[in-house]
Amino acid sequence: MEYFTTTSKPSRRAIDCVVIGVFNRNQLGNSAVDIDSASGGEIRRLIKSGDISSKLGDCSMLTGLAGVKANRIAVVGLGKKSKLNARDFRKAVAAAAAAITKTRARQVLNCLTLEDVDGASPYYLARHSVQVINEALYRFTRMKSGRKPRASALSKIGLSIAKRGDALQAARGAEHGDAIAAGVSVARELGNLPANVCTPSYLAREATKLAKGNGKLTTRIVNEPEMKRLGMGSLLSVTAGTDEPAKLIVMQYKGGASEKPVVLVGKGVTFDSGGISLKPGPAMDEMKFDMCGAAGVIGTMAAVARMKLPINLVVIVPAVENLPSGNATKPGDIVKSMSGQTIEVLNTDAEGRLILCDALTYSKRFKPAIVVDVATLTGACVVALGAHRTGVMSNNDDLRNELVAAGEKAEDLAWPLPLGDEYAEQLKSNFADMANIGGPGGGAVTAGCFLGKFTEGMTWAHMDIAGTAWKSGVKKGATGRPVPLLSEMLLARCGALP
Ligand code: BES
Ligand code: MN
Ligand code: ZN
Repeated sequence: MEYFTTTSKPSRRAIDCVVIGVFNRNQLGNSAVDIDSASGGEIRRLIKSGDISSKLGDCSMLTGLAGVKANRIAVVGLGKKSKLNARDFRKAVAAAAAAITKTRARQVLNCLTLEDVDGASPYYLARHSVQVINEALYRFTRMKSGRKPRASALSKIGLSIAKRGDALQAARGAEHGDAIAAGVSVARELGNLPANVCTPSYLAREATKLAKGNGKLTTRIVNEPEMKRLGMGSLLSVTAGTDEPAKLIVMQYKGGASEKPVVLVGKGVTFDSGGISLKPGPAMDEMKFDMCGAAGVIGTMAAVARMKLPINLVVIVPAVENLPSGNATKPGDIVKSMSGQTIEVLNTDAEGRLILCDALTYSKRFKPAIVVDVATLTGACVVALGAHRTGVMSNNDDLRNELVAAGEKAEDLAWPLPLGDEYAEQLKSNFADMANIGGPGGGAVTAGCFLGKFTEGMTWAHMDIAGTAWKSGVKKGATGRPVPLLSEMLLARCGALP
């Protein structure tokens, strides 16, 4: 995708499509004024006649408008004029993008960036525009045979700016938006691939490919014999039932000086059958998405490398498949984690925490500034927060606030959940140092508390993305979350935001 910024009048541009907006009560957006006057008031007339809707998210595609050089004008409803916030802005851009993907337009000039959006700078308007449009273009076609549904023709996105002085900011926004969108696509693609393709070995190969040709990025794969030597008995207990070899993927990006790195750990269960504690049949296919934490941190690494951020970042992915078999771990088995602590596996379906705990212990060797793990960890988190917000738990209030705030800025929402000894009580075991499950209440939190037993002395946060990483139903598919949130946090951390 190519990008450009422009202060020129949209009516004068010979381009495939121009996007403008209109508000309720016959009010033109800043973006619509020029097109309306160049066409002799056609936009106002069409609003009056009811042929253009101003309802937020509606889009009317006009062609052959006299006095205007563009082939098409996408007129998007912006709703009430008083309150255009970043979320509504994204909704409007998404509506235009959806309409454009149905045409053969190759270039688009988005003028919605001229609107006054609550608290949004030219940087954010450009970035969110680019992210939203690219998101709308994404299709998962790799596994379709025969003639694949045609990809969108769009290859060039223009962003209108009010004054030349905004050009640098907007261009930077487009550049970052493009990188984040690419990271989101990486995460969605890995998530959507079926578990017979996207195995731990496949994830390891893809992570290795990402590092090829990038001098700042290296990928190392830790195989099972080395895991054994490291004492990762907890991780290895999850992979006992499958023939697929487990992989510990370690990606290291050195963009900063000698400062301590940020470490991101992503749950990479490429299929979660539950193991001997077998899951019920309905929707079990969706457990191919149980590696979306891995996809999210690998996607974030892809975005960071593309933006060449001046930061040190380590991504660690424990990748396994959780299946039942004659070798599988059984309920009641006791395993020894790399930390030395023993764990009674009361439920083999609580496997995410069993691989994450060893990955978290492993992360200590990087002397991290902070460690954030990302995991489709509990159904309980979906009950608590639904599909809208990722659950964030931390042993550090500042880090938790930082992540939640990054989510707000990135429009990739999260919300705090507590940790605490009163919850951790539930993990007591009669036979080992701890059990891998708690009681029936507060399941997202007890999972967080379990991980907390392996992060002492670290500044650590846990993000439960079980509700946000993919959609079910007719729109079934990976969302690429929380790549935008994590990218936002890293951009802010290294001072790369204007
Ligand atoms: N991957 C699942 C969590 C999950 C389930 C995410 C459904 C999204 C939708 C995880 O490994 C799991 O099975 N968790 C159990 C934990 C329980 C056994 C304590 C769960 O949530 O039921
Ligand atoms: Mn499970
Ligand atoms: Zn799982």
